[in-house]
Amino acid sequence: MSFKTRPVWFIPVVAISLALLAAAVMVGAALLRGPAPVDPNAPPAPAPVRSSGEAQVGGPFTLVNHRGETVTDADFAGRPMLIYFGFTYCPDVCPASLQVMAAALDQLTPETRAQFQPILITVDPERDTPELLAQYVTAPAFPENLTGLTGTLDQVRNAARAYRVFFARVDDDGLSSDYTVDHSSIIYLMDREGRFVEIFPHGSAPSVIAARLQAFLETSPA
Ligand code: NI
Repeated sequence: MSFKTRPVWFIPVVAISLALLAAAVMVGAALLRGPAPVDPNAPPAPAPVRSSGEAQVGGPFTLVNHRGETVTDADFAGRPMLIYFGFTYCPDVCPASLQVMAAALDQLTPETRAQFQPILITVDPERDTPELLAQYVTAPAFPENLTGLTGTLDQVRNAARAYRVFFARVDDDGLSSDYTVDHSSIIYLMDREGRFVEIFPHGSAPSVIAARLQAFLETSPA
C-alpha cells in the first residue's frame, strides 16, 4: 500500500509489534543460554557465618592429679594452662613434646614462666596411675611444676572429647600389659578462665611458642 493510504494507527502498531518481538527474542535467547556463567573474576560470595571455634575446644573436666587428688578445671582458674595429652609409656613423641614445652618456658623470665600451669593429661589412665605420673612429671627435662592428670577412662575420655583430642589404644599382641596409644600431639594454650587461646602443633619450635606465650601475657596480664 502506498504511504497515502496508511491509516494513522499504522506506525504505532508496527512499532509496538517490533518492540514485543524484540523482547520475545531476548527472553528466548536468555532461556536458551541457561543460567549465567560464573565470572571467575567476580568477588567470592560471602562465607556462611561460622563461630570462631573458641567455645568448641576445652571445657570443664574432672580428673585426678599426680598427688591422688580429684581436681577440676576450676582448680586452675586464674592461671593460663599449657595442656598436652599423652602418656608415660610413650617412647618418643610425648617426651619430645614435653621437652619442647620445657624449652619454650625456659626462654621466658622466671616470673613470666611461673604464670603458666603446664599440664599433662594421660590418654592411658589404665597404666598411668597417680603414682606413676608423680615420678614422670618430675623428670628434669620436663617443665617445672608439670602437673600430671589421670582418672577413670570415662573422665579421661570426657576431657579428651572437650579438647577434640584423638586417642586410641593399639594392642600389638593382645597382651594387656604391652600396648601403645595413638594420639594427637598438640599443646593447647588456655587463658586464665580456661578458654581456648591457641594450639601449638607437633613440631612447633620452642622459640615460636615462647614468643606466643609472651605475646599472650601482654594482652592478658595477671
Ligand atoms: Ni605420645
